[in-house]
Formats: sequence, structure tokens, C-alpha cells
Amino acid sequence: MKAIITGVGHFTPEHRLTNRDLEQMVDTSDEWITSRTGIKERRILDKDKGTSYMAVKAAEMLLKQRGISADELDLIILATVTPDMPVPSTAALVQKELNAKNCWGFDLNGGCTGFLYALATGAQFIETGKHQKVLVIGADKMSAILNYQDRNTCVIFGDGAGAVLLEPSERDDTGIEDFILRLEGWGWEYLNVTGGGSLNPATHETVDKKMHYLYQDGKTVFKNAIMGMSDISLKIMKKNNLTSKDINLLIPHQANTRIIDSVAKKLELTEEQVVVNIEGYGNTTAGTIPIAMSEAWQKKMMKSGDWIMLSAFGAGFAWGSMLLRWSID
Ligand code: COA
Repeated sequence: MKAIITGVGHFTPEHRLTNRDLEQMVDTSDEWITSRTGIKERRILDKDKGTSYMAVKAAEMLLKQRGISADELDLIILATVTPDMPVPSTAALVQKELNAKNCWGFDLNGGCTGFLYALATGAQFIETGKHQKVLVIGADKMSAILNYQDRNTCVIFGDGAGAVLLEPSERDDTGIEDFILRLEGWGWEYLNVTGGGSLNPATHETVDKKMHYLYQDGKTVFKNAIMGMSDISLKIMKKNNLTSKDINLLIPHQANTRIIDSVAKKLELTEEQVVVNIEGYGNTTAGTIPIAMSEAWQKKMMKSGDWIMLSAFGAGFAWGSMLLRWSID
């Protein structure tokens, strides 16, 4: 039994924060942001809404496209670093809004690799025959943890959500084929939010020290992201006897076009083989890959049987690659 993707959906908020807008907020320029990151604008969710709002919208698009009701879901796995609140899980809030009466679910924090972690986890429940319909969501409201006075981070991230449905199939020529995932905790100090957890519970002091905002050592993350994503992608291709010519599409985590370009170069992939949509959304963390996948499917960039490679790198450090054969006609 293999897990196949039978539905996709995504949601991005309407409000656009452009590079020009950011020029008014911090010491930056459209030229710097565009040339260093490839980002032109990002979407920002309303202040009074949380990550679950976007996750529900992405799931609703998916359910409509697949033509099933939320009652049929067995499990919801939600990858996020920006849960609506510490307790309960954001998956619980999504379950309530969708009125998915027959499922269980949980949140998963794999940083920018969260969606790959969640997809790999969900596939196991299908492959064992335990579940028939697993909803996997990647969603983040990064604007909630950004300091809009810190030009190192606030220009990079945005808000958004994407979702896929996993179901079983007996076919050989489609489905999740393989994944390699990694976690190396020495990287924690280069990308983190140190306030508000059990180590440093929220106090006036943690807020004064801005510990509730995202901190990033961009250079270290940049270097490791290129190495991590390209090494692991080459490894999984070799393991499955595939060359760059066999890969129809690489859907990489959208953190920086220079990272994506370097990885594509190391993998010997052409521009046409790589999905890039960072220009309009920035880095939506767990949202980037499922949003890019849903948009690519809408644009008819893949057909059933195509080899798709997913690859991501992020906080932890957590990274990995997945190979799948596309399964929606
Ligand atoms: N506008 C203008 N200047 C900026 C700036 C901004 N928004 N952000 C940083 N700078 C400045 C820096 O302060 C630095 O100035 P200095 O030389 O006077 O100290 C200069 O630009 C160069 O900074 P540097 O960090 O070397 O830039 P970079 O080329 O490494 O690009 C990132 C910075 C953040 C775009 C890049 O490192 C990156 O994309 N990192 C990975 C991000 C990522 O993927 N994160 C998510 C997890 S996957």
C-alpha cells in the first residue's frame, strides 16, 4: 500500500506588504531585498486572526476539489511554528472549524521543514493501512513573531498555508516513494524564538528583550541551507537511481532565490524544473512547499506519474528531501 496525494489547497491573505512599504518601516530598499532574496512582496494576515484561519481555508479548498466532506478525515497533522496559542493544538482548532467529527490530530514543529516532516508522518499512517484519509497542513503566520524594526528578518517572511490529502493506492507508478529527513540541534542558536516557552516563560523582561521575536543569523543559515538541501537531494536521487533528467519538478522550500538557484545548480536542474514563487509570498515557513505545490498544480505544471522532489531546510537545524510520483490527473 502506498500513500498518494489526492488533493491540494492553499490560502494566502489578501493584504500585501511590498518592499516599498518596508522601505518606510526599516532602513532597507527594494533593490537590496530583490537582489538578495528575490522577494517583492509578502502577504500579511489580519491581526485578529491566527494560523488556524489560514489552515482551515487551505483545507476547505482541498476538500472542495476532492469532493469529500470533513467527516471523512481520519487524522489532521498540522506543521507550524506559529500555533494560534500554546494550548490546545492548532490542529484542534482546525478540527473544530472544519467540523471533522471522526478524526484525531496534532501539531508538529519541524521549522521550515515542518511540511516534509508532516507529510512523511502522515504517509506512515496510510502505508500501515491504519488510516484512509490524512490531512497534512503546513501553515504559519510569521508576521506574529517578526520584529518590524529588525531589517534582518522582517523583509524575509510572510503568512500563508497549504494542505494536501493523503490516501492509499495500490498503483506502483504514483505516490510517496522515499524521504530522507535530518535533525541537528546544534543549529538551534542560529534560528530561534527564545521567549515564551518553558525555558523563558513570557515576562515583562522577555518582552523588553524582544525574546518573543524571531532571531536569525542569516549567513550561517544560508550556507547550511545550500549544503543541506543539495547534499540530501543528491543522496535521495542516487538512492532511487534517478538523475536530474528524471526529475520533472523540484518544489523547494522558498527561503531565498539565491539558495534555490545554488541548489538547482548543484543538482544540475534547469529553470523549468524548479518551482519558484517566493517573489509574491516571501518565506511562509511550513507553508512554502504546499502553497507552491498547490499553485503548480493549478498551473498544470505536473501530471500523473511525474517525478517530484521536495526539499527544505530550516530551524533546528531540520532538513530533508522527499521523492514522490504525482498522483492527481
Ligand atoms: N536591507 C538592507 N540591508 C540589510 C538588510 C535589509 N533588509 N538586512 C541586512 N542588511 C545588511 C546587513 O546588516 C549587512 O550589513 P553590514 O555589512 O553593514 O553588516 C549587509 O546587509 C549584508 O548582510 P548579510 O547578512 O551578509 O546579507 P546576505 O547576503 O547574507 O543576505 C539574508 C541576508 C538574510 C537574505 C541571507 O543571509 C539569507 O537568506 N539567509 C537565509 C535565510 C533563510 O533561509 N531563513 C529561513 C530558514 S530556511
